Amino acid sequence: MSTLRYSRDVTDPGIDCPTQFDRLEEGDEVGKVIVSEADLQARIADLGAAITADYQGRPPLLVGVLKGAFMFMSDLSRAIALPCEVDFMAVSSYGSATRTSGVVRIVKDLDIVLLDRHVLVVEDIVDSGLTLSYLQRYLLARQPASLEVCALLVKEGQQRTALDLRYVGFTIPADFVIGYGLDVAERYRNLPAIHAYDGPTD
Ligand code: IMP
Ligand code: MG
Repeated sequence: MSTLRYSRDVTDPGIDCPTQFDRLEEGDEVGKVIVSEADLQARIADLGAAITADYQGRPPLLVGVLKGAFMFMSDLSRAIALPCEVDFMAVSSYGSATRTSGVVRIVKDLDIVLLDRHVLVVEDIVDSGLTLSYLQRYLLARQPASLEVCALLVKEGQQRTALDLRYVGFTIPADFVIGYGLDVAERYRNLPAIHAYDGPTD
């Protein structure tokens, strides 16, 4: 198994990020790279170009879902060549560290009014799809002119609800992943690539 374990002696981590070990500590279980930093950035450039083309003449309001989407939002927004606005909401889904229950609590609501706006939800990862499904209903009630979703990652075969995802970065296997905004108990968000999580899941 290619789990990375923190060691002060390691000089060559052998993966695509030379400073990876600065971000780890003893006991961390960061698995193999699922999506590399280069692949993430290339795909985000493509997504930005597609969004730029689709939203000509109707600048989008990007709505990021905290905390996981913060890094994706940062890169994606810079890849969109349009005068867009950015807002965030924070949700917390009840459940364990690695599994969602689908019951969502709004921790931080939006500051910008959605009425008649072209809203593009920027989401880190769609697993069961229950969080996004709840959010879509919540946001549609505010009567935007349009509502679409841009999800960086979609877990293959896991969705328990039908979702209309306008933009998808990567479809990945169903295993738990970390990095590039995604966490386990608030750790690993600052890894620049998406990795498998080799620690215990419940
Ligand atoms: P869903 O409601 O099952 O689609 O789960 C959505 C939310 O759970 C995501 O927005 C993430 O915050 C979190 N999540 C789901 N899968 C993962 C994962 O593999 N790593 C980190 N967070 C995840
Ligand atoms: Mg999320």
